[in-house]
Parts: sequence; structure tokens; C-alpha cells
Amino acid sequence: MNYFWMTVILLVTGASAVKIDVSVMEGDSVTLYTDVTKTQDNKVQWYYNSGRIARITGDPNKTCTDVQCNEGNWRFRDRLHLDHQTGSLTIRNITDTDSGLYKLQIIIPSSSISGKIFNVTIHDVSAAERNEMKRKSVKEGESVTLDPGVMKNTNDLMTWYFNDICMTEITGDPRSSADVQCEDADERFRDRLKLDHQTGSLIITNINTADTGLYNLQISSSGFSIMRSFSVSVTGECNVIIHCLHP
Ligand SMILES: *[C@@H]1O[C@H](CO)[C@@H](O)[C@H](O)[C@H]1NC(C)=O
Ligand SMILES: *[C@@H]1O[C@H](CO)[C@@H](O)[C@H](O)[C@H]1NC(C)=O
Ligand SMILES: *[C@@H]1O[C@H](CO)[C@@H](O)[C@H](O)[C@H]1NC(C)=O
Repeated sequence: MNYFWMTVILLVTGASAVKIDVSVMEGDSVTLYTDVTKTQDNKVQWYYNSGRIARITGDPNKTCTDVQCNEGNWRFRDRLHLDHQTGSLTIRNITDTDSGLYKLQIIIPSSSISGKIFNVTIHDVSAAERNEMKRKSVKEGESVTLDPGVMKNTNDLMTWYFNDICMTEITGDPRSSADVQCEDADERFRDRLKLDHQTGSLIITNINTADTGLYNLQISSSGFSIMRSFSVSVTGECNVIIHCLHP
């Protein structure tokens, strides 16, 4: 990075830049939003602890992520994804060494430079605790509780997905305690879901083997969103084949 850009960044990330705190758990996928629509002219750049990690401009040849932007720096490998419409940045499978300041710079030629700073911190949760929270093994007919592991912020929108199909949503409006059914909600869970509005926990009752799979929780905040995954495996009631024969 040359001296000129360094100076620009220092100016941008000074008093004027919006600062957003982002708290995640290891293994999460986090998306940092630009809140702009990329146009032909403007340029969006992302810096991590002052090294450039992503850039998108009107020229597709100048769009880059990670090592392409910052020669010899392999820190994110293929965990960065840049949305070409908005310039928003997704960091997948975040690790504790990814914490720090992510700086966004939006340059509109001969008009303005604006920016945001995302202060990303990683929850202090041990691998064993995380495993217990995110990997559930239950027997057919039982209930399972998927706990987000954090207190719900009042303005967050929490959306639960099963194999990428929306199950249910918890809105940020504290006056409304009603669960919102997703438009194309999966019928298989009809009358079997309960939500804890304090924590955002999802309880699935009377579980069956077809409920085995990957559950995702999306937590949408102002300026960013987090995707956290849970795996549920359901074992049949009987494991001796002869007792499993149904009439
Ligand atoms: C991008 O690069 C390719 C090959 O290097 C070149 O043919 C093309 O014209 C370039 N596109 C722009 C918009 O500069
Ligand atoms: C996430 O990263 C860890 C190492 O930090 C790795 O062991 C794990 O396999 C990765 N998970 C996915 C889904 O890529
Ligand atoms: C980022 O957040 C952490 C945890 O809240 C805090 O200790 C740290 O000072 C913050 N960094 C900046 C530059 O604001």
C-alpha cells in the first residue's frame, strides 16, 4: 500500500467513520454490509488491520480478494466472499485469529470518500462448549433445543433455516412476541416449533429421523449479519432391527 492511500485511510477511519461492534463465535460466517449499491464508478475497498483484503471497482480486472489484493498474504485463503452488487464482504468459518478491525472505504470519484469500521471480536467459548451447543444427538420422539449461545439483542432479527429452507423468524420488535412464519415455511415442522423470545432458542418437539440435518441461524443486526450452524442427528427409537419392523 502506498503512502497516499495510507493517509487516505487514516483520514477516513478517523472521527468521521461509523464504528460497529460485531461479536461472533468461532465457526460463524459473518457478512459486513456496505449499505450501498455498487455503481460503475465507485470503488469499494476492505482493509483488515490496514492490509487490503478486498477491492471492487468498475473494472472487473481490478476486483480482488485476499492474496490477489495483498501479495503473499494468505490469511483468509478462500474464506472471503465479495458481493459484486453491493461490495459487502463475507468472512466464512471465522477463527479467533480473525478478530480485529475491518475497515471499509467507499470512494465515489470526484465526490466523496466514506467509510465504516467493524470491530470484530470472537466470543470466548471453548471448543467443547461450542461442540455441545452446536452438535445435537437426539432420539426419535424427543425434543431438541437449539440455543444461539448469546442473549438476543432487541433489534436483531433471528431467522432459523433447515437445509436452507426458512423455518421461522423472531423479529426485533419487543412488543410483538408472535413468531413469524416464513412465507415458504417447511410444512414438516408444522405445530412442532417453539421459540424462546428471550434467548432466540428454537425448540423442535416430537422429532423424527427426517429432521436430521443442518440448521442455520441468521442473526441480522444493523450493518452486519451472522450465520451460525447447528447439526442435529436423530436416531431411531430401536436399534435392534427385529424390533423395528412396523406392522
Ligand atoms: C481484463 O483483462 C483481459 C485480459 O487481461 C482483457 O482482455 C480485458 O480487456 C480487460 N478488461 C477490462 C475492462 O479492462
Ligand atoms: C473451519 O476452520 C477450522 C480450522 O480453523 C477447520 O478445522 C474446519 O474444518 C473448518 N470448517 C469448515 C466448515 O470449513
Ligand atoms: C474492539 O472491541 C473490543 C471489545 O469490546 C475492545 O476491547 C476494543 O478496545 C475495541 N477496539 C477498538 C479499536 O475500538
